[in-house]
Amino acid sequence: MFELIIRKANLPDGRIGVDIAVKDKKIAAIEPQINAAAETEIDATGRLVAPPFVDPHFHMDATLSLGLPRLNVSGTLLEGISLWGELRPLLTKEALVERALRYCDLAVSQGLLFIRSHVDTSDPRLVTVEAMIEVREKVKPYIDLQLVAFPQDGYYRAEGGVESLNHALDMGLDIVGGIPHFERTMEDGRASVEALCRIAADRGLPVDMHCDETDDPMSRHIETLAAQTVRFGLQGRVAGSHLTSMHSMDNYYVSKLIPLMAEAQINVIPNPLINIMLQGRHDTYPKRRGMTRVRELMDAGLNVSFGHDCVMDPWYSMGSGDMLEVGHMAIHVAQMAGIADKGRIFDAITVNSAKTMGLKDYGLAKGCNADFVILQAADPIEALRLKPTRLYVIRRGKVIAQSKPRITELLLDGRPATVDSGRDFVPRT
Ligand code: FE2
Repeated sequence: MFELIIRKANLPDGRIGVDIAVKDKKIAAIEPQINAAAETEIDATGRLVAPPFVDPHFHMDATLSLGLPRLNVSGTLLEGISLWGELRPLLTKEALVERALRYCDLAVSQGLLFIRSHVDTSDPRLVTVEAMIEVREKVKPYIDLQLVAFPQDGYYRAEGGVESLNHALDMGLDIVGGIPHFERTMEDGRASVEALCRIAADRGLPVDMHCDETDDPMSRHIETLAAQTVRFGLQGRVAGSHLTSMHSMDNYYVSKLIPLMAEAQINVIPNPLINIMLQGRHDTYPKRRGMTRVRELMDAGLNVSFGHDCVMDPWYSMGSGDMLEVGHMAIHVAQMAGIADKGRIFDAITVNSAKTMGLKDYGLAKGCNADFVILQAADPIEALRLKPTRLYVIRRGKVIAQSKPRITELLLDGRPATVDSGRDFVPRT
């Protein structure tokens, strides 16, 4: 007797109508047909069953704070940073926890069960760190939350930045962050990358830096990050987030940079919603769009995963915890509209992001954790197009969220009676 069998599922790899059986919270079998009984059975005929979505770059301490203490008038990254600076002294642990837990509820409803969040360590009170550690513990039964020690105001630039970051790591944050392009000088940025990689090597931690989040074609911190990664033997444990300056860099220079990044096995994390919103603000026209070189980095064998970055905070007034919205934007700004391209985009918000976060037993294979999202769409391409209803969200074999399919009744003479956009508008061959 299995705990759960999902019947007739479509899988992201193209298999159609297979059965998935769960035992002891793990995937016990994926077969064309499983002739056995289960305590719970779910009919997924014509529906995509995917592993849950993974967000490798988020700011859980800032989320849902839109309008506190005021709105971002210019809509720029730099006003967002100064606005966050205004809000920071007013933050309380209780309010931070309350907002983060509300966001986590939204994430679960969207089938998003793995999140890496940067946590601002600039305020020596470290109330953000205390709050996010509490949230990490509270959501453990349903969300894996990784926390990055993130010196928002600069590791060297902010008074006490060095001590605060180290204190935050002592308190139990998981990953070493950084923001080299926000330091006072290029040299301070370079030195911060070196110092932070040394801390990661000494403490045995991964690294995830906001890196070159500018339109400056001469910003060179990803080069330093890759070189220091090799120097400290951190290959595969380091992520470069944003990398928007790569959009503007000289092509010859990039032809040298990408192989170095590949040698260092840098995990690349663009944030399409935020990058398209915040970059190119100093341009008139033509206006750069600040998206890093997604296709070229993927072609070079780098692991590219997309982050949501912000939802309703000083930097971004939009967002819905939906990684399909992130992938949808990536298709547009990275201009990856081919069928194979879209498959790579879907991977970037699932398996690639899982690799970035170092998740164990993630995926749709025998022996993996029985974590799934069942969507009102037939395949990954339709999921990216429709951003459909998450019919079931399943964690370790147990349904933790469910929604009714969105089916619209038409009241037109002579037309079909109902519309199920996940079934009725897929291409017919
Ligand atoms: Fe960020």
